[in-house]
Amino acid sequence: MAESMTGLKRTHRCAELGISNIGEKVTLMGWVQKTRNKGGLLFLDLRDRSGIIQVVFDESKVSAKLMDKAATLRSEYVAAVTGEVSKRGGAVNPDMLTGEIEILPEELRILSEAETPPFPIESDSKTKEELRLKYRFLDLRRPDLQKNLMLRSKVARIAREFLSDEGFLEIETPMLTKSTPEGARDYLVPSRIHPGSFYALPQSPQLFKQLLMCSGYDRYFQIAKCFRDEDLRADRQPEFTQIDMELSFVNVDEVLDVNERLLAKIFKDTLGVEITLPIRRMTWQEAMDRFGSDKPDLRFGLELVNVSKVVENCGFSVFSNAIAAGGSVRGIKVIGQGEMPRKKIDKLVDFAKDFGAKGLAYLAIGSDSSIKSSLVKFLTEDEIASLIKAMDAKEGDLLIFAADSDKVVWDVLGNLRIAIAKQLDIIEKDVYKFVWVTEFPLLEWSEEQNRFTAMHHPFTMPFEEDIKLLDSDPGRVRAKAYDIVLNGSEIGGGSIRIHQTDIQEKMFEALGFTKEEAQERFGFLLNAFKYGVPPHAGLAYGLDRLVMILAGVDSIRDVIAFPKVKDASCLMTEAPGLVEDKQLEELGLEITR
Ligand code: AMO
Ligand code: AMP
Repeated sequence: MAESMTGLKRTHRCAELGISNIGEKVTLMGWVQKTRNKGGLLFLDLRDRSGIIQVVFDESKVSAKLMDKAATLRSEYVAAVTGEVSKRGGAVNPDMLTGEIEILPEELRILSEAETPPFPIESDSKTKEELRLKYRFLDLRRPDLQKNLMLRSKVARIAREFLSDEGFLEIETPMLTKSTPEGARDYLVPSRIHPGSFYALPQSPQLFKQLLMCSGYDRYFQIAKCFRDEDLRADRQPEFTQIDMELSFVNVDEVLDVNERLLAKIFKDTLGVEITLPIRRMTWQEAMDRFGSDKPDLRFGLELVNVSKVVENCGFSVFSNAIAAGGSVRGIKVIGQGEMPRKKIDKLVDFAKDFGAKGLAYLAIGSDSSIKSSLVKFLTEDEIASLIKAMDAKEGDLLIFAADSDKVVWDVLGNLRIAIAKQLDIIEKDVYKFVWVTEFPLLEWSEEQNRFTAMHHPFTMPFEEDIKLLDSDPGRVRAKAYDIVLNGSEIGGGSIRIHQTDIQEKMFEALGFTKEEAQERFGFLLNAFKYGVPPHAGLAYGLDRLVMILAGVDSIRDVIAFPKVKDASCLMTEAPGLVEDKQLEELGLEITR
């Protein structure tokens, strides 16, 4: 029978108590982690979000009625205990925050009984994630998830305080809006009042924050929900949260400076880690050439080397043809892995094929300088020697090469270097390697759409000296865009925006939009720009990704209270769900499949 808490007032959270509280009378409320009945002595572990405290019911000290009541407690019952904080009678528990004390109870109330949970409420759960997500409300009681969500709350608070102190205004932008051009598919919401018309949920507050700059708010921020209907991965959710900002009258250095100080504060105040400022910068080209990725993980080497010059005229047609077709041949050197068994190498080839490689060539140098290679039958001894020299390889090293278009080679070797680093366990732990990736290409060719698309978004400013290339060689125009990358994860990105009508028009032209199409999609922004627009720039962090790294977890679901699974459904609420015919009728919608 559930009792009322009338007349009781909670005085502390369980693990807020320590030896300095000894002798105090306290009232605690929480969940029963477990009880141990030793006959005459009953131990209760009471849990709340702060942690666990031990309550000792001793038959020589409390009434028989209280002993009997304590004996009815079961896991996950909600209970209130009033009693005195005392030094532990038994051995001190060094693993517990409250390991030196215990509570000697005077009163116990059972506020709620509980069914036996489908899995134990404990850290490092062995329970399948599917079951945990179905009972997310119980999963969220587990200390590791509670820790992650408290960390997330702290990061949001630090950002809010820091940005407010720096003169940013927190302004909300609409959730029901028009499609924003971030490049993913929109989530649409049908309009009842305008049958056949749809709102789009924002992919980001991009256009609105630029409008706020036009309206003179000067510095804006928002902790904003964003929605993107894209394929999910370990670091991607259909709805996620950005720490979003925009600033007027600033250059790149000023944007990066305020963000570096924000990141430094977050890392200092959460992990106690000092980030050395300024954060290094690397152009997109350098990141691709050296790491095969625009989000390079700088915690380990295994850098790419372009050997195209060495093999462009060689007798191996896979190599020479790739180069002749405008591509390249690049390699990575795996130090000390010259004896890697063939089976393991074959596995790497299979892995590479998932990223579009047609094959991989390898060259293993034995400790006796003997050479095992898929290339010996195609290359001369001199060519092999030049290749080894170009790779700066020694006895005992393994060289891996890919030949294809630059894009494929980067992707294959970029992913391979990460896979090898994980396999060899050479990624340093507890280090935080930040890098700004700058000078992204403004446009990238989309095979699917058969036109150039904006790599970031259509409002990103090109380098002034590259604007003339917009007509002749659009793929070579560099953008004033920057991503902040941490340990190989893109935790944020932004750009200087175009604020000049003529450049914006050129940009739309390059993207293949007619004037009418541009007006139709972004007319309100273009209109606003006619009435006095300040030069402006901004950036947005993926809050979820940032917290993932701070919490040291591999899944974005571990830092979101109610996440979705791979097929974008919620296992607890079973969203998305069917709706009543009446609702469809009101919206003028008919389901056709
Ligand atoms: P961008 O599209 O790069 O830029 O997004 C900014 C950051 O948001 C995070 N992110 C995601 N996190 C989880 N799940 C997703 N599906 C997801 N998609 C993106 C990433 C990314 O770096 N409006 C621009 C910013 C600007 O220019 O100011 C924007 O949205 O960490
Ligand atoms: P093949 O001529 O297809 O038998 O390939 C000969 C060798 O070259 C094999 O070791 C292949 O794995 C390798 N190879 C094939 N395609 C590529 C490629 N695109 N890049 C690097 N190596 C390749």
